[in-house]
Amino acid sequence: MSPSVMTSERISLGDVTPNNVGQLRKLNQVIFPVNYAEKFYQDVLEVGELAKLVYYNDVCVGAVCCRKETNDKETRVYMMTLGVLKPYRQLGLGRRLLDHILEHASAYSSIYLHVQITNGSALNFYKKNGFEVVDTEKDYYKHIEPRDAYVLRKAL
Ligand code: ACO
Repeated sequence: MSPSVMTSERISLGDVTPNNVGQLRKLNQVIFPVNYAEKFYQDVLEVGELAKLVYYNDVCVGAVCCRKETNDKETRVYMMTLGVLKPYRQLGLGRRLLDHILEHASAYSSIYLHVQITNGSALNFYKKNGFEVVDTEKDYYKHIEPRDAYVLRKAL
């Protein structure tokens, strides 16, 4: 093996399974100021490719969790959480998770999500990846300040 291969950073994605869902719960507790209920994790186990863990040199450091939503007008993907542990940010891991979701969401009309209005890094990240702010929801968050959220959307 050449030295460049030995020292290269290895990014890979993995499924969320009953055996590692506890790892996802721990990641989300560290990354997000919001506490997700047990139902969230049960649902994540049912969404197939719309939930994924990301590994950096075999260490699990982030995850994405989405759900499918159908209303009168469309079937769309709602991104519930996308997060990477702080020391591993700006290494391309968030984009890797997002690209995976976009690849597997082509059957849906759009993808949308909420971002706290003060979360500048997430807003930058999503805007760089083709999302646009389509709405502001007052008091979306009940237990964190500020409570308002932007709604970001990308047509698929
Ligand atoms: N400021 C400016 N641009 C940024 C920032 C930042 N803080 N973070 C990422 N970007 C840009 C990168 O520069 C990169 O663009 P480039 O390729 O042109 O250089 C692009 O976004 C992709 O960056 P990644 O390295 O793939 O992003 P990262 O792995 O850091 O993940 C994320 C971004 C998920 C938003 C991360 O900052 C994070 O985990 N934040 C905490 C959790 C969070 O707020 N998640 C989103 C909340 S909304 C929701 O979960 C649905």
